[in-house]
Amino acid sequence: MISSTFALLLCLFGAANAHFRLLYPLPRGNFVADLEPNFCGGYTEVTTNRTTFPLSGGFFSISTGHPGWTAGVLISTVENPNNFDNFSVNGVQQLAKPFARDEGAGTFCIPLNLTEAGIPGVQDGANVTIQVLFEGGDGNLYQCADLTLSAALTSPPADITCSNASATTSSSSPTATTSTGAALDLSHEASGFAVVLSFAGVIAAVL
Ligand SMILES: *[C@@H]1O[C@H](CO)[C@@H](O)[C@H](O)[C@H]1NC(C)=O
Ligand SMILES: *[C@@H]1O[C@H](CO)[C@@H](O)[C@H](O)[C@H]1NC(C)=O
Ligand SMILES: *[C@@H]1O[C@H](CO)[C@@H](O)[C@H](O)[C@H]1NC(C)=O
Ligand SMILES: *[C@@H]1O[C@H](CO)[C@@H](O)[C@H](O)[C@H]1NC(C)=O
Ligand SMILES: *[C@@H]1O[C@H](CO)[C@@H](O)[C@H](O)[C@H]1NC(C)=O
Repeated sequence: MISSTFALLLCLFGAANAHFRLLYPLPRGNFVADLEPNFCGGYTEVTTNRTTFPLSGGFFSISTGHPGWTAGVLISTVENPNNFDNFSVNGVQQLAKPFARDEGAGTFCIPLNLTEAGIPGVQDGANVTIQVLFEGGDGNLYQCADLTLSAALTSPPADITCSNASATTSSSSPTATTSTGAALDLSHEASGFAVVLSFAGVIAAVL
């Protein structure tokens, strides 16, 4: 009885896995759900087909079927960042976008002004890598994108969609609506950051 209850719980937990996809800029490789809890979603090596990305006025876009998540963006100015250390300087993670929370599920387009954080080396022509950290309730998930920064580019190409579409997980109303972003709850920023930091610490300790 107890073991079957446990199995059921495991099953439910598995079904609720909070995966996300990085839609823009494109990640290092094809999405592999099982590898998403790993550094860069399982892609440790830098790619050469970098996305030319605006130094200022950019955005990133993710989708998730899981309502209630926290996400932030780390940046590395190392040419071939292949471990979490390369996203830190003197042990401090380089945050290009502070952690923020949203209670919804669906597609989200979030402003990403890379100059805002004032990180040394984040400049015109630089090759950098961003790592999106996503936490939807069952551990941190990661996706990386290799970029070449451009000051001449003032926004991502016009053919890249930037809109929020919320997907309800309730089966009765699978409609999509445009979110105003009002659901963004910044009060969870600090706790999300702490979760991410402690998790990265565990990984660093294991490595
Ligand atoms: C680079 O190539 C890989 C492998 O074909 C692909 O998965 C990835 O999306 C490409 N990245 C960009 C930015 O086009
Ligand atoms: C940036 O990366 C590209 C592709 O890997 C490479 O061809 C280029 O030389 C690099 N640029 C700099 C400034 O390192
Ligand atoms: C990006 O941030 C920089 C530094 O804070 C600011 O000067 C610039 O206006 C911002 N760009 C956009 C498009 O908001
Ligand atoms: C990247 O991280 C590795 C492992 O901590 C370190 O040995 C290497 O010096 C780092 N690279 C740079 C350029 O900081
Ligand atoms: C989408 O929602 C996020 C909050 O999750 C908000 O920061 C962003 O500005 C919204 N984007 C658009 C295009 O409304």
